[in-house]
Amino acid sequence: MASLITTSFFFFHTIALLFFSPASSAVTYNVLSFGARPDGRTDSAGAFLRAWSSACRSRSPATVYVPAGKFFVSKATFNGPCRNSQIKFSIQGTILASSDYSSSSGASKEWLAFNNVNGVSIAGGTLDGGGSRLWACKLSGNRRCPTGASSLTFGNSKNVAIDGLTSINSKLFHIVILRCENVKVRRVNIQAAGNSPNTDGIHLQMSSSVDIVQANIRTGDDCISVGPGTAHLWIERVFCGPGHGISIGSLGKGQGFQEESVRNVTVKTTTFSGTTNGLRIKTWGSNIPGQVRQVVFEDALMKNVQNPIIIDQNYCPGNSGCPGKNSAIRISQVKYKNVRGTSATPVAVSFDCSPSNPCRGISMQDIKLSYQNQQAQSSCKFVNGDASGFLAPPSCL
Ligand SMILES: *[C@@H]1O[C@H](CO)[C@@H](O)[C@H](O)[C@H]1NC(C)=O
Repeated sequence: MASLITTSFFFFHTIALLFFSPASSAVTYNVLSFGARPDGRTDSAGAFLRAWSSACRSRSPATVYVPAGKFFVSKATFNGPCRNSQIKFSIQGTILASSDYSSSSGASKEWLAFNNVNGVSIAGGTLDGGGSRLWACKLSGNRRCPTGASSLTFGNSKNVAIDGLTSINSKLFHIVILRCENVKVRRVNIQAAGNSPNTDGIHLQMSSSVDIVQANIRTGDDCISVGPGTAHLWIERVFCGPGHGISIGSLGKGQGFQEESVRNVTVKTTTFSGTTNGLRIKTWGSNIPGQVRQVVFEDALMKNVQNPIIIDQNYCPGNSGCPGKNSAIRISQVKYKNVRGTSATPVAVSFDCSPSNPCRGISMQDIKLSYQNQQAQSSCKFVNGDASGFLAPPSCL
């Protein structure tokens, strides 16, 4: 049914544009009509941007339609505000980035970005970030490799939906939600090599009311990273692995924010397979203040995960600037409920909190984690809380 409708839009959009009154009905802008070429080589960035500006200028709901085929887009920033608040990007095909990271667009931190929009949704499609050459550069230890661009960024936007999108081989993060409000991410499929550097699946920062439901994320860095300023986040039915797991933080790096806080996060019904971490909270050993509170981790299945449950307040990669410093981020009201499966290391539960700001109100209920068919261990430093129900490893709270 859906394909029938899109096919008829495909054929009749010109007629629709000519005859339908813009005030009363939705219009579709097919990128082919704006000069896009589905040959995987011709740069279609200009055509995508022209289709976008037509949709954005429309006073009635509008669809930008990307049909089947491979469209090379060097870089595109879709800016709002728009005249309507119902713009759909309906994608059947694949959008390809350049694999040449040294080109001019390679210097940008963003490949496809939406800024200052309200009511934009993306439905379907595949984004191919072409990251493998940049990963190889980074993996070779060459310090002059560029950072690379995140594949899809929403910035300063509200009422955003991403549904049924596949994102592969990003150069940097796959999806970034920055300064947004009310974002629904559904049924996304994210894939990059397990050793690809910095290819986080979904990164959030300064955003509230974000739902991520039904995601399949296989990547080389965090599956989902929850950055400073995140509130009211709901994560449900997410598969992670390979990768670094779901991480709140790192916080306290000092990225120019006065305070780095995260509150009201629910992470429910997750599976982690072969990841370095499962459910992680990490803060730098630094004096940047902040809080992490009201977090619920519920119903998680771990399969051979190195650190299934971990709070690390002494995060200090490269050991520069932070050794010996205590984190000033206060962690409280964190609940772990029904977490089961296998740990790849003897310590399945590790709470390494800040000596000057101990974790408070950490609660554990029904934990069943084993290590090589033996009892796993828990480790507690500067943490207060309570435990109930079945507990393996035994609680150290
Ligand atoms: C927490 O966030 C959820 C959405 O994930 C929201 O429905 C709920 O009202 C929030 N709770 C509080 C106390 O703000």
